[in-house]
Amino acid sequence: MSNQIRLDVNPMMAEYVGPRGIARAELDAMIPEMKKAHAAVEAGRGKDMQGWMDLPYNQDAIVAEIEATAAKVCEEFEAFVVLGIGGSALGPAAVQAALNHLHYNELPAEKRKAPRLYIEDNIDPERMAALMDVVDLKKTCFNVITKSGGTAETMSQYLIVTEALKAACGDDWKKHIIITTSEQKGFLIKIAKREGFKTFYIPDGVGGRFSELCPVGLIAAAVCNIDIRGLLAGAKEMDERCKTDDVFANPALLDAGLMVIAMNKGANMSVMMPYADSLKLMADWYAQLWAESLGKNLTLDGKPCNVGQTPIKTLGVTDQHSQLQLYTEGPFDKVITFLKVDAFRATTPIPHGCDDIPTIAFLGGKSHNQLIESERQGTEYALFKAQRMCQIISLPEVNANTIGQLLYFFELVTAYAGALLNINTFNQPGVEESKLAAYAVMGYDSEVHTAKREEMKNRPERKAEYIL
Ligand code: PA5
Repeated sequence: MSNQIRLDVNPMMAEYVGPRGIARAELDAMIPEMKKAHAAVEAGRGKDMQGWMDLPYNQDAIVAEIEATAAKVCEEFEAFVVLGIGGSALGPAAVQAALNHLHYNELPAEKRKAPRLYIEDNIDPERMAALMDVVDLKKTCFNVITKSGGTAETMSQYLIVTEALKAACGDDWKKHIIITTSEQKGFLIKIAKREGFKTFYIPDGVGGRFSELCPVGLIAAAVCNIDIRGLLAGAKEMDERCKTDDVFANPALLDAGLMVIAMNKGANMSVMMPYADSLKLMADWYAQLWAESLGKNLTLDGKPCNVGQTPIKTLGVTDQHSQLQLYTEGPFDKVITFLKVDAFRATTPIPHGCDDIPTIAFLGGKSHNQLIESERQGTEYALFKAQRMCQIISLPEVNANTIGQLLYFFELVTAYAGALLNINTFNQPGVEESKLAAYAVMGYDSEVHTAKREEMKNRPERKAEYIL
C-alpha cells in the first residue's frame, strides 16, 4: 500500500459542488500565475527565509547529534519540558500528539520508555506553578527554544526555571537545560555560551512557523522516541513530488491555487477539520502557519492589499455537534479541509446490545473506525448538498513519514499561496506592535518604549456608558 498522502479537490470545483464552487475556467486562468508562483518559490529555495526547503536534505549530522542527546535525556530524566511559543511550540506539540500515544504522559514509564513531555507555551501565572507541581526538577530537562533569543514569554520562563533549578539541583543545574536558538543573533546564544549549555541552532533561513523539521521540533520528538528520520524522509518525498510545476501533479501547487481563487471569491476562512484526535493539534500548527504567513497589508511592491484567510481549528466528529450548522447554512465564506485517516492504529469494535432499540442495536458488531469515517462522509455530503467548498487530504495512516509529508505539504502550500498573493510570506510585522506596546506597559525604560507609552495615552477616553 502506498504511504503517499492524497489530495482530493473535487468538492472545491463547480463541476462537482455546483456554481458556488470554482469553475474550471477560473482554474485554467490561474494556471500561468500558479506556474510563476512555483518558479518564484523554487528560485528562492534555500535562500533568505526559505532555508526550510533545505531541511529534508541537509541535516544528517545534526540528526545524529539530536539522537545522541535524546538517548542521554532518556537515561537521565523523567520529564522533558519545552519552553517556547508560536513556531517554537506548535510544531513540537502537533507532532507529539500525532505520533505518540493519545495519553502519552499518563502511560506507565515502562510503556512510555521516554520522559513525559510538557510544552509550556503561555505565561498564564498559574501555569508555571502547575508545572512545578507535577515535575521533579531533579529529574527534569528543559529545552528553551527561541530563535530571536529574546522573546519575553520564553525568556521570563527561562529566568523562573533557572532560579528553581539552582535551588533544586545545586551545581548540576546547567545539565538540565538544552538551548535551541539562532547561532548568530539574539541574547540567548550569548547566555548559552557563557553558561556552557548544550545548544542546538535554528538556521537563519528558517522562520519560527517553518521550523518544525529543524532542531526546534526534532529534539522533543527524538526524546519521545519519534522517528525523526522518518519525518524528514516524508518531507523529502513531498518536496520531490512538488518539484514539478504541472498543477495536476503537484498537490501543494494545486491546493494553493484553488485556495487563492477561493479567497478571491470571498472564502476568507479556512476550516481545518481533522477526523482523528491524533491530528487535532495539526490544526493549531496550521492556523499559525496560514495566519501569520498570509495575513499581510502590503504587496511585495508596497501596495495596500489586506489579504489573508482566517484559519479555524476544528475536530471531527466533535465539532459536527458544535460548528457544522454554521458551515452548512451560514455565509459562503469558508473552505473546509478534511484530514482523513485511512487506517487507524487501533480498532475499536462496538459490542452488541440494546437489542430492543433498533437504532442503537444497529451499531453492534460495527466499529468506531467505521463510525468515524461514516460520519466524515456524512458531513462531507451535507456540505456538498449545501454547495460548500471542501477538500480532503487523506493519510494512509498516521506515521512519521506521512506526518513529514503533511507538514511539508502545508509549508509549500503556504509558500505558493504567498507568492500568488504577491506578499512577503515569511515576515510578521503585525506582531511587533503588540510586543512593543506590552513592554511599554510593563514599564521598560528605553527611548522607543517611553515614546510608545506616550503614544498609548493618546487613545480616546473610554466612556463609562460602555462599561457595564
Ligand atoms: O513564526 C514565527 O516567527 C513566530 O511565531 C515565532 O515562532 C514566535 O514569535 C516565537 O519567536 P521566537 O522563536 O523568536 O521566540
